[in-house]
Amino acid sequence: MAFSKLSLLVLLSSWSTIVLAKAGAHKRIRDLIKSNSPLLQYPTQFTQDLVPKRIHSHNDYWREVPLLTVLSYGVGSVEADVWLFGGAGDLLIGHDPESLTADRTFGSLYVQPLLEILKPQNPGYDLYKGSPPTGIFDTSSGASLNLLVYVKTDGASALPVILKALKPLRDAGYLTTYYSNGTLVRSAITVIGTGNSPLDLVRALDPRDYFFDGPLANLSRGDIFKPTLSPIASTGYAVAVGWNGLGTIPDNQLTKLRKLIDDAHALGVQARFWDTPGWPVSARNNVWMVLLENGADWLNADDVEAASEF
Ligand SMILES: *[C@@H]1O[C@H](CO)[C@@H](O)[C@H](O)[C@H]1NC(C)=O
Ligand SMILES: *[C@@H]1O[C@H](CO)[C@@H](O)[C@H](O)[C@H]1NC(C)=O
Repeated sequence: MAFSKLSLLVLLSSWSTIVLAKAGAHKRIRDLIKSNSPLLQYPTQFTQDLVPKRIHSHNDYWREVPLLTVLSYGVGSVEADVWLFGGAGDLLIGHDPESLTADRTFGSLYVQPLLEILKPQNPGYDLYKGSPPTGIFDTSSGASLNLLVYVKTDGASALPVILKALKPLRDAGYLTTYYSNGTLVRSAITVIGTGNSPLDLVRALDPRDYFFDGPLANLSRGDIFKPTLSPIASTGYAVAVGWNGLGTIPDNQLTKLRKLIDDAHALGVQARFWDTPGWPVSARNNVWMVLLENGADWLNADDVEAASEF
């Protein structure tokens, strides 16, 4: 009798301890949330739930908030159209001259926001020099964000100004870099020039932290397109393949598509097709599916929300 009373007492008291502890924990959680406690400010929370996707954000600057909108969908590649203007060497962002404003620059829309995201991701980075910094995406910290720079004005004059604008990211160690001794150091951001980016000048960079979007339809040209110069290569889908996404892709077009992708992969280069059909939505999705099934590395998308749910 005495024994079971005792064990009942022990049981009751441990149960009440648990209940009290649980109530205490709930109160503590409520207090922390109410006070917006610094204990809840996870340093890399900017992208904590995002899984990076192999989507390329075409004409990113058209979005209400450039860069950040697409990062919020986990997009792994963004494209900025850059125009060099004026003696001061302003790099303005936009699709055509009418859309440019003095406030919207390569620095203000891309370089500074990327720095602001990456700094908290790498609080102790200086202590760990030697290992790569944490990238944009917390769920895949080794993934590098592709920043495609589409040069709209003369390439030879724009390149040095773009390289200078990238200095804060370079100085922080956030740019993927190739050294002529054969070492490729991957980092949080891989900058890839396209549009009028001058191939010969990009090839001559040493070290190189500005790469070149290779010609996917002509990769064997000159035996120079290797991943250390061209991590990706691109071509216009409509011309290179052409299937409109309705019905089933004809064999000859499928063969063309596979050859372009396989030739790139044989060199270690990733394949991207731009100018894929956008409408009807079912045709757009059919083309995306055929591209993915056959190994294309990036989906080029204007509607990144649709692509991220694809
Ligand atoms: C190549 O050069 C870079 C930069 O100087 C250096 O960090 C790296 O260790 C070198 N790699 C080799 C294999 O010499
Ligand atoms: C490939 O490059 C060669 C030499 O520059 C050029 O003549 C040819 O038109 C190119 N082909 C394509 C499909 O771009």
